[in-house]
Amino acid sequence: MPRSTWPRCTDAVVLAPSLLGADFARLADAVDALTGSGAERIHIDVMDGAFVPNFTFGTDTFRALRKITQLPLEAHLMIREPERHLETFARAGADGITIHYEACPHLHRTLATIRKLDCRSGAAINPSTGASHLDDVLEACDLALVMTIDPGFGGQTLIDRTLWKVERVRAEILRQGLTCDVEVDGGVDAGNARRCVEAGANVLVAGTAVFGHAGGPSAGYQALLDTLPPESRR
Ligand code: DX5
Ligand code: ZN
Repeated sequence: MPRSTWPRCTDAVVLAPSLLGADFARLADAVDALTGSGAERIHIDVMDGAFVPNFTFGTDTFRALRKITQLPLEAHLMIREPERHLETFARAGADGITIHYEACPHLHRTLATIRKLDCRSGAAINPSTGASHLDDVLEACDLALVMTIDPGFGGQTLIDRTLWKVERVRAEILRQGLTCDVEVDGGVDAGNARRCVEAGANVLVAGTAVFGHAGGPSAGYQALLDTLPPESRR
């Protein structure tokens, strides 16, 4: 299917449901459920067993999903040397590509390459990486991702201390007069989503909170939305 337009969402909060929380044997069902819930994008975690100790989806997954959905696909690359694979992910159907500061010695150039491929550029930092490491690349970012867990696995607990970095990154974006989105990823649930937004995040990744919800993914999606401040919702 052709890609749909990825709306800018700096003024509104959006959820980015992560397929990592879904049943891998039923990804098409997961996509259907998210579409029915009103999801505006899908977060797809790519792991290489080297940058993080796990393996997940690859370019074939993007190709397969691109055939069944128009929803924007957000590739979160937790891989070494991501610059070698950007074009492949863009061609496979990724609308946004997020790479890690810790995996990228030439981050500014790599972000620029993502934009040249007509994808939204994202830069991520791990919990142990200082927020200031993003300062000099924010101009090249459409999205700044502050990891709220150490990447590699779903179902972990959000590290509270990371939220001050969200504040710091949002403040720097405003100071530089930029409009990029601030995303949080890891352990986001109905008990802390509002705090993430109050800290300055406007894109919330959620795997377990959506797909692990007792009432199913639609109920999980809605339960998260219901916790957000009314003024931050569309
Ligand atoms: C973990 C991934 C996350 C993961 C979050 O490294 O980047 O996107 O899906 O899962 P939860 O929401 O379960 O913490
Ligand atoms: Zn992720």
